[in-house]
Amino acid sequence: MSLEELWNKLKNATDCKSLLKKHLTPEVYQQLKDKKTKFGGTLIHCIQSGCKNLDSGCGIYASDPEAYDVFKEVLHPVIQDYHKVPEIKHPQPDFGDLNNLGFGDLDPSGDFIVSTRVRVGRSHASFGFPPVVNAEQRKEMEKVSVDALNSLEGELKGKYYSLETMTPEENQQLIDDHFMFKNDDRFLQDAGGYNDWPIGRGIFFNNNKTFLCWVNEEDHLRLISMQKGGDLAAVWKRLINAIQEMEKKLTFAHHDQLGYLTFCPTNLGTTCRASVHIKIPKLAAEPDFKEFCEKLNLQPRGIHGEHTESVGGVYDISNKRRLGLSEIEAIQEMRHGVEEIIKREKALQGK
Ligand code: ARG
Repeated sequence: MSLEELWNKLKNATDCKSLLKKHLTPEVYQQLKDKKTKFGGTLIHCIQSGCKNLDSGCGIYASDPEAYDVFKEVLHPVIQDYHKVPEIKHPQPDFGDLNNLGFGDLDPSGDFIVSTRVRVGRSHASFGFPPVVNAEQRKEMEKVSVDALNSLEGELKGKYYSLETMTPEENQQLIDDHFMFKNDDRFLQDAGGYNDWPIGRGIFFNNNKTFLCWVNEEDHLRLISMQKGGDLAAVWKRLINAIQEMEKKLTFAHHDQLGYLTFCPTNLGTTCRASVHIKIPKLAAEPDFKEFCEKLNLQPRGIHGEHTESVGGVYDISNKRRLGLSEIEAIQEMRHGVEEIIKREKALQGK
């Protein structure tokens, strides 16, 4: 579809509630329609997903790191609206005092938290995002990422599995174990996220699968630390270690006002999503469950990833805010919220 066709579809949509629809006004469209970034990114690359999927919540992606400046007239209001920040501003990275975090296991009883996971997204500063890179560039990114991953030592030491060469059985096993990503998200698909699939994609993990890295899924890199149970401190420390080691080898896209840059503006800033899979059958059945999470700045999801339903009263609960606060603040917000959730579930169960 041409830019004009995409724009007309969005403009004429009557029941579209996306942030793209709200903030891409005719004036802004006129201002941006002929702009291009040095990575070759255009407005088409940014808005194609949101124009094709009128049920998008956000509806816009950045074509590349520079898009956040070149297309700021639409991206900045979207970012402010999504992250609920009064201005475009983000603190310097702060991962907290690792020797004195002030929290450990959020559920020593083991009755509620099934597993804990924290992920961050990172982008190579010198490459565009999925819609503007070609197969060759994907392979180049994969190579530099995997070289850095292969240099990790100790607990982080592991092996890379390329999606191009793994067998369908291996792939399915990794999906069943909740480690692997798939190419079945229509929002990401229409954003160009699966171009050249499976070229340049793969997954790295350590022996006990407590540290993983997705290569060229939605973001160039998704660093993931996870384990069974509720020991958030252990998960967090492992992730920080991985981030710091990777930063020694690679240069990541970082913006003074927006923090770490990601393909989707919903992930900007800290890029941290800290989550637990948690058994809360009583609380989940309460009529104010969603509102309760909302008040704690938490987002409940199903356990099979974004846009999925819950199974057996087990929810994926994570921090909602990623921009305008530091990494450790995002983690603390999630910790506090999860503690409140457990308190209320306990009370409802009469414990
Ligand atoms: N583009 C989709 C939407 O606007 C998903 C946004 C957030 N999810 C993500 N994986 N980046 O609804």
